[in-house]
Amino acid sequence: MTRAAITAIAGYLPENIVTNFDLEKIIDTSDEWITTRTGIKERHLENDPKKATSDMAVEAVKLLCKKRGISPEEIDMLICGTVTPDLVFPSTSNLICAKVGAKNAWGYDLGAACSAFLFGLATGAQFIETGRYKKVVVVGADMMSRIIDYTDRTTCVIFGDGAGAVLLEPNEENLGVMDFILHADGNGMQHLHMKAGGSAMPPSHDTVNDKLHYVYQEGQAVFKHAVYNMAEVSASIMEKNHLSPNDVTWLAAHQANKRIIDATSQRMGIGPEKVMMNIERYGNTTAGTIPLLLWDYEKQLKKGDTIILSAFGGGFTWGAVYLKWAYDGSKTGK
Ligand SMILES: CC(C)(COP(=O)(O)OP(=O)(O)OC[C@H]1O[C@@H](n2cnc3c(N)ncnc32)[C@H](O)[C@@H]1OP(=O)(O)O)[C@@H](O)C(=O)NCCC(=O)NCCS
Repeated sequence: MTRAAITAIAGYLPENIVTNFDLEKIIDTSDEWITTRTGIKERHLENDPKKATSDMAVEAVKLLCKKRGISPEEIDMLICGTVTPDLVFPSTSNLICAKVGAKNAWGYDLGAACSAFLFGLATGAQFIETGRYKKVVVVGADMMSRIIDYTDRTTCVIFGDGAGAVLLEPNEENLGVMDFILHADGNGMQHLHMKAGGSAMPPSHDTVNDKLHYVYQEGQAVFKHAVYNMAEVSASIMEKNHLSPNDVTWLAAHQANKRIIDATSQRMGIGPEKVMMNIERYGNTTAGTIPLLLWDYEKQLKKGDTIILSAFGGGFTWGAVYLKWAYDGSKTGK
């Protein structure tokens, strides 16, 4: 069977770094609280008001094409996972394609919050597996700083801005996306959403005055659901594919809170040496976290490595992907 393999990976982070100590100056918090409760030390936040989510994604896609030695015109399709699109319409995917010169691609945005990259990976893989396309780009990009209230200490410390992108191509060596389990439950909406700006509550002076165009999050409720579901789905995909902890080379889990990631790896029975982690430097970049993780760890990845990707996010949405890495990352990794 033809599988969809990741053949290149790239990312982009805005230059501006905001540390926990910087946040101490604007809200009632401390480096100690943020570090022990979340594992985050700093995050990248775009401070140029002219830049939007597509601009970060464009940098990642340009680097992706350069690394793989392809022209953007060779891309057949581009899926962009994001909750911070440049505009309600047209899609950020369209804008990225136009800006990078991917003239022969079509695509769309995928709204699954922190699980969007995994939903996009599973979706993009179908177009490769069926033989329809040869080059599908999956982007996870979010400029969370544009929808976060920097007077709300319970949410603003967690999030960061960033984008990652992967190229999917056909593989005949049984490497690539091997399996996935994905879930969605709209009842979770009550705990994590943005109240205004959509058709349910169009923007008005009142919605802006009441700060309803920012992320609304009930942290503890989200935490409980995330810990349980991310751990369970990660264990389920191992069981379904008869993978023991020894078979797993890496866990690449959504970077929302170190404690959630630790609970997931414990449930899977794997040690911390197999857990990819960059939350301390980037915070939660929503759809960006998993491709950014793979990008950071690319140098250490070997052909045939078994990687479990897992995520939990707003919606609620959650899931896991079982991936076999398709190339030696030591030559292309940073
Ligand atoms: C948001 C989160 C870090 C908060 O951590 P927590 O341990 O649940 O903290 P709580 O909400 O119970 O708050 C504990 C106390 O810390 C305080 N607190 C909250 N944010 C704080 C901050 N940034 N600095 C200092 N104190 C803070 C609270 O006010 C509360 O004080 P109180 O006990 O006097 O009322 C955690 O709930 C979390 O990570 N949730 C999941 C978020 C997530 O994954 N979101 C993305 C979707 S994937």
